[in-house]
Amino acid sequence: MKKKLWGGRFKKSQDPEFEEFSSSIHFDYVLAKYDVSGSIAHAKMLGKCGIIPKRDAASIVKGLAVILKAIQSGKFIYDFTAEDIHTNIQNALERKIGKPALKLHTARSRNDQVALDTRMYCKDRALELYDLIVGLQKGLIYFAKKNKGVIIPGLTHTQHAQPVLLATHIGAYVEMLERDKMKLHYAFHAADAMPLGACALAGTSLKIDRKYVARELGFAKLCENTMDAVSDRDFVIEMLEAASLISMHLSRLASDLILWATPEFGFIEIDQKFCTGSSIMPQKVNPDFLELVRGMGGRTYGNLLAVLTMMKGLPLTYNRDMQFDKQPLFDSVGKVSKALSIFARMIKGVSVNRANIERALLDESLYATDLAEYLVAKGVDSRQAHSIVGKLVASTLEKKKRISGLTLAELKKFSEKFEKDAFKLLDPKVSVARKRK
Ligand code: ARG
Repeated sequence: MKKKLWGGRFKKSQDPEFEEFSSSIHFDYVLAKYDVSGSIAHAKMLGKCGIIPKRDAASIVKGLAVILKAIQSGKFIYDFTAEDIHTNIQNALERKIGKPALKLHTARSRNDQVALDTRMYCKDRALELYDLIVGLQKGLIYFAKKNKGVIIPGLTHTQHAQPVLLATHIGAYVEMLERDKMKLHYAFHAADAMPLGACALAGTSLKIDRKYVARELGFAKLCENTMDAVSDRDFVIEMLEAASLISMHLSRLASDLILWATPEFGFIEIDQKFCTGSSIMPQKVNPDFLELVRGMGGRTYGNLLAVLTMMKGLPLTYNRDMQFDKQPLFDSVGKVSKALSIFARMIKGVSVNRANIERALLDESLYATDLAEYLVAKGVDSRQAHSIVGKLVASTLEKKKRISGLTLAELKKFSEKFEKDAFKLLDPKVSVARKRK
């Protein structure tokens, strides 16, 4: 049996298959740098408060600093037979500095330790995702500016609706991402409370200084209730919600781009750098990146639901069930951050085929609402205007004519209110310009 942080009470060694089943090192190793940073702050506090000798605290801090450096430079060799990352770091420290290491876990439990590590991870990754979103917003704005003035047929129900600026369409995603930033802001604050000192669930009789640890680690506040401190995973759920919302927004953007890139639309071409070919059909250039992004929501929603369900009905306080929060969290955050990063580059390389778009804009039904509003402005009530233009569109379609091909007299048959200037409305630029405030 591998060395554990417990065992005194045990007379039997663990069932090997159960030991493997319960171990978390193969995924919680990503918490390593937070675990060590948390331990450094904790050890400093123990020394400062006279709970352990200052000399031992100094030696612990020194040893942990070396370990932290190794982790950051990728040189730390993880022990994948350890029970978890906390045990792995504790054992590594013992090997490095010997006896003083045995004092590190004073006034601490893995229950408050893992809450601390996970909160630190969430705070860091919330900031990182925030920056990546800013990067994608910049990419979208670059794309919109590069195609300034381009007008496309706006869709509702995936049917021609009214002309809109491509920039308005893209701007909608900038807005969605802005809301995602608010969500991440909230997720950051949900994680920004320091749980150490709660220990297993009841706090400690030792005279610790929690505020000092919070300051050292850059936490805004303390977890106020020791039982909540070790049993709360709302901050994990907040991150998973943020990741779900982001991936929902990205999937819609991916869908629009996939549609526009079809030969039937032909509005855009996606840079081959973000496409994949077929093993049998030599002609294929498939938008695989966008498809992966579109599909990612299934995974991020699943991760959110996994943690929500895992937490439901859990009695206070810490329960081992909660170990199942990590893989979903790391998976969602990891996938979403990669998708945001790649998307920011991909969107800049999208090229627009103006000729195909102009062809699509020849559909005069796109101007039906403008014609109806023209009549409304002349005093026709809106229901009647709707009906008049509906008949006009149906009639021209039936007769295979264009509205712009009618004479004024023919147009007037639908409403006396139509004058020559009505024909000017059959123009995407006019349509868009009339809507600007
Ligand atoms: N691997 C555990 C988790 O992720 C760490 C905490 C273990 N605590 C305990 N009392 N067994 O939740």
